[in-house]
Order: sequence, then C-alpha cells, then structure tokens
Amino acid sequence: MINIAIDGYSSCGKSTLAKQLAKSLHYIYIDTGAMYRAVALYALQNGFIDNGEPNMQRIELALPELMVEFKINPESGNTEVHLNGQPVEALIRYTHIASLASRISQNRMVRDKLQYWQKQMAQRKGVIMDGRDIATVIMPDAELKIFMTANPQIRAKRRYEELKAQGKQVSIEEVEAEQKLRDFQDTNRKEDPLRQHPEAQVLDNSNLTPEQQLALVLQWIQALTKFQ
Ligand code: C5P
Repeated sequence: MINIAIDGYSSCGKSTLAKQLAKSLHYIYIDTGAMYRAVALYALQNGFIDNGEPNMQRIELALPELMVEFKINPESGNTEVHLNGQPVEALIRYTHIASLASRISQNRMVRDKLQYWQKQMAQRKGVIMDGRDIATVIMPDAELKIFMTANPQIRAKRRYEELKAQGKQVSIEEVEAEQKLRDFQDTNRKEDPLRQHPEAQVLDNSNLTPEQQLALVLQWIQALTKFQ
C-alpha cells in the first residue's frame, strides 16, 4: 500500500479522482477541504460572520470547542465529515461556504488545528488525501503526488452543471467568479499556499473523461508499485 497526495485548484475534479481511487484500491479517502468547510459552517452557525466577513478573533477563541472528524457512511461506503458529532456533508456543499472556507483557511491557528488531525490520519498507509497543501505540508512522503489542473472555463462549466443537477440556483458567471477568487486567495495566501510539489505528476484533465483519468492514474500506481 502507498499514500496518495492530490493537490490542485478548486473544482478540478480532485474529489472525483480520489473517490474513484479509493473504491478501486480499497483505500481511505480524506477530503481535507471538507474540514475547512466544516469550520466555515461552524462560524456561520455561531454568528461569527460580520457582514459576510469571518470574525477571526471569535473563531480563534472558539477553536477549542471544535471537533471535525470523518465517519464511514455504511450505505455509500464513503467517508463523510462530521462537525461536533453531527453529519454535515450536505450542508457544506454550497458556494458561500466554499468562499468562507477560503477566507478562514488563511488563518494559522485554524490550519494548525486541522493539520494536526490530517497528519494523524496520514500516519497509516492506504490513504488518499486531497486539498491544497497535502504534498507540500501534510504528506511530503506520499509515494504518489498528483497536481491537478484543468482549463478554468471547463472547470466552471462542470461545476455549474453539478450545482444545477443538485437543484442549486447559481449562474455560470457566479461560479466562474467564485472559482477565480478562491484560486487567487488559495495561491497567494501567506500560510501554506497552493504550490506544485517538485515531485508531483501533473494531471490536466481538461480533455479527459473521469474513466480515462482513473485509468491513467492507475497506470502510474502500477508502475510505482511494480517492485514492491
Ligand atoms: O477542496 P475544497 O474546495 O472543498 O476546499 C475549500 C477551501 O478550503 C479551499 O478553497 C481552501 O481555501 C481550503 N483548503 C485549504 N487546504 C486544504 C484544503 C482546503 O486551505 N488542504
């Protein structure tokens, strides 16, 4: 068994790939973005957002009360995020939560708390983690490091279709603007910005179907584990 670190821009299909790999290889999938989204939800539920801006002082003070963990959904077999014991997987999949998560994830104390849990979960083998700092900070020893990217228009269109299918009311322009802002913030922040690790294999899936993408990465894994 190996560990797989997947980093990349927003809405690049990181979680699609991670879930496919977890199913094919019987590995555990940890969605670290869901943890930052859960903190954003917590801030929203507790009134720590003033005029759309997260109040970082109040969030920092509340951090000791915060518990984010993953549990396996027995029906789907997927790992799902829980906030202080409550399942919140569906509640965090909104664009306003993603935007708040991108602002809150700039905070060092928030990152320290979530990264501590992430590093604990990465201590075993057979883990697939996706996020922005997985190869650079959380799993620098992961045998396979993937940096995902795709054409921004294609990404926005895919995301828009996905949100529409879920019955969420958004325009493609809104999706594109949110994606652009988030990529800018995640790449330019001071704390653990999104960076391509020097050992990472780049996966541009602009013109790949999910099936083609999975087949390609399984080939990479086969090549890596051939002599193990
Ligand atoms: O991956 P996802 O889009 O769900 O992540 C939501 C936000 O959480 C990102 O825009 C980013 O700001 C933050 N994040 C992070 N580090 C990670 C994963 C996510 O800063 N490892």
